[in-house]
Amino acid sequence: MRLILLGPPGAGKGTQAKRLEGRFAIVQISTGDMLRAEVAAGSAIGREAKAIMESGQLVSDDILIRMLGGRIDRPDCARGFILDGFPRTVPQAVALDRLLAGRHQRLDAVIELRVDAPALVERIAGRFTCAKCGAGYHDTFKPLRVAGTCDVCGSHDFVRRADDSRETVQARLEAYARQTAPILPFYAAQGLLHTVDGMAEIDAVTTEIMAVLDGLPAATTA
Ligand code: AP5
Ligand code: MG
Repeated sequence: MRLILLGPPGAGKGTQAKRLEGRFAIVQISTGDMLRAEVAAGSAIGREAKAIMESGQLVSDDILIRMLGGRIDRPDCARGFILDGFPRTVPQAVALDRLLAGRHQRLDAVIELRVDAPALVERIAGRFTCAKCGAGYHDTFKPLRVAGTCDVCGSHDFVRRADDSRETVQARLEAYARQTAPILPFYAAQGLLHTVDGMAEIDAVTTEIMAVLDGLPAATTA
């Protein structure tokens, strides 16, 4: 199964992608995570992307399309994937169609997570991640069970993203409205777009996504 999770910063793309990974044994491809790894490694791409990401703008289509093209050819994508953060512009969406057509593959669904802007800011400002295993948390919405200790791996180290300040979130929301939202009609025209209420609780959002996926033609979910 090949899915796109689409939605503004903080909509819950990463949270839901991790859950779908487990249920369908397909991989999450987060272009944000890939770029953060390049930044951490100090690669040429990372050096170019760092300031752009920290200002809340989008990294160039050329870099992202090349990066994604290489990623979907890796063996762990053989059963399918969940795209989280790609495509983010119409040229990226067009390039993805081309990449898939060249591999005789196609998308099964595009899930839009719809969330109000004030809720997005709250979610992002409170978010943190385990530095060791990557498990995601939120000060209010998904706190640690034991203060200072990761629920999953027991680590005591946590990180907050450099672009998660309230000011940068505003720029990221504007970039979404201006550059990413125009993708929605592109996928609606292909009959692939399904909109889910991302304001609901995390479990309820997963249930709604599962209902959408259960409703897809059986052949495509194999
Ligand atoms: P990226 O890493 O993709 O960030 P983003 O799109 O801004 O989205 P986030 O990761 O902030 O949010 P999310 O939707 O994953 O939400 P999450 O599940 O964490 O991109 C970062 C940057 O990289 C971009 O700004 C750009 O510069 C660059 N980039 C990446 N891809 C690119 C591309 N294709 N082209 C160009 N540039 C690119 O949830 C957020 C918080 O809310 C968490 O704490 C979570 O616990 C909580 N939460 C989740 N769901 C719920 C819920 N239902 N109720 C309550 N709380 C919830
Ligand atoms: Mg994310």
